[in-house]
Amino acid sequence: MSLLDGRVAVVTGAGRGIGRAIAQLFVSEGARVVLNDLDEAPLAEAKAACDAIAEGHAHVSIGSVTDAAYTDALMQQAVDDFGSLDILINNAGITRDHVIHRMTDDEWSFVIDVNLGGTFRCIRSAAPHMRDVAKAELSEHGEVSHARKIVNLFSTAAIRGNPGQANYTAAKMGNVGLTRTVAQEWGRFRICVNAVAPGFTETRLTAAKEAGSELGIPEASRKASLAKIPFGRFGQPEDVARAVLFFASPLSDYVTGQEINVSGGLQIP
Ligand SMILES: NC(=O)c1ccc[n+]([C@@H]2O[C@H](COP(=O)([O-])OP(=O)(O)OC[C@H]3O[C@@H](n4cnc5c(N)ncnc54)[C@H](O)[C@@H]3O)[C@@H](O)[C@H]2O)c1
Repeated sequence: MSLLDGRVAVVTGAGRGIGRAIAQLFVSEGARVVLNDLDEAPLAEAKAACDAIAEGHAHVSIGSVTDAAYTDALMQQAVDDFGSLDILINNAGITRDHVIHRMTDDEWSFVIDVNLGGTFRCIRSAAPHMRDVAKAELSEHGEVSHARKIVNLFSTAAIRGNPGQANYTAAKMGNVGLTRTVAQEWGRFRICVNAVAPGFTETRLTAAKEAGSELGIPEASRKASLAKIPFGRFGQPEDVARAVLFFASPLSDYVTGQEINVSGGLQIP
C-alpha cells in the first residue's frame, strides 16, 4: 500500500524542477497525475520519467495557469482521464526580478498573475470536482469518502523579503493568505489546504544568472545564500517534493491552513 494509491492529482508547472519531482514522487506513491506546463519539451521529458516509474500514470496538459478557460479544462481533464480530482498542487511559478524603482507594470502584473492569480484560478476551477463532490458526499452519506488536498507553493524569500523581488514576494505571500482562507472556507468539506515554502532549491529559477537572462540569480547572491544555510547545501527538488507529499497524503488529514519551510534550517528573521 502506497501513500497515494487510487488518488488523482494535478500538478502545475510539472515540466521542470520542483513540479517534476513532485509528479515523479506522486506516481511512485501510486497516484495518477495530470502534468501541466507551458512548455511542451520539458513536459514530454517529465511524462517519460513518470512512465518509467508506472506506465500510463501520467498524462500531460499544455497551457497557462493565467488562462481561466484553460484551468477549467485542466481540472476537467483529470476527471475525464482518471475519474476524479483528489489533489491539486499549485506549483507553477516564474520570476522577473528588478529593484522596485525600475520594475515595470508588466513585470509586476505578469509575476502576480502567474504566481498568485494562477493559484486562485486553479483552486476555483477545481471547486466543482473537489468542493462540490465532497459536499454531495456529505449530504448523501453524512461523511466524505476521503480528505482531499490542495498544496500551494510559496517561498522563504517571500517570508523574509528579498531585494529585487517585490512582485514575486508579494505574490508568494498572497498565496499564504489564499491558503489560510480557502482552508477555512472548505474545511467543512475536509479539503485540506496547506502551503510549502522552498528555501534555495536548485532549479532553473536559481541557476547562475547569465548575461541577458530573465531568470536565475547572480553568482555572488548564490554564494551569500549558501553561507546562510546550516545544512551547508542548497535544496534539491526532491527535498521539497517530500514535504508536498506529506500535505498531499493521509499523513496530514487533520492538518489545514498551515505552512512549512523546506530550507535546510535557514533562519527566517
Ligand atoms: N527554486 C527555488 O529555490 C524556489 C524557492 C522558493 C519557491 N519556489 C517555487 O517553487 C515552484 C517551482 O519552481 P522551480 O524552482 O521548480 O522553477 P522551474 O522554473 O524549474 O519550474 C517551474 C515550471 O513552471 C512552469 N510555468 C511557468 N509559468 C507557467 C504558467 N503560466 N502556466 C503553467 N506553467 C508555468 C515553467 O514552464 C516551469 O516548467 C514555483 O512556484 C517557485 O516560485 C522555488
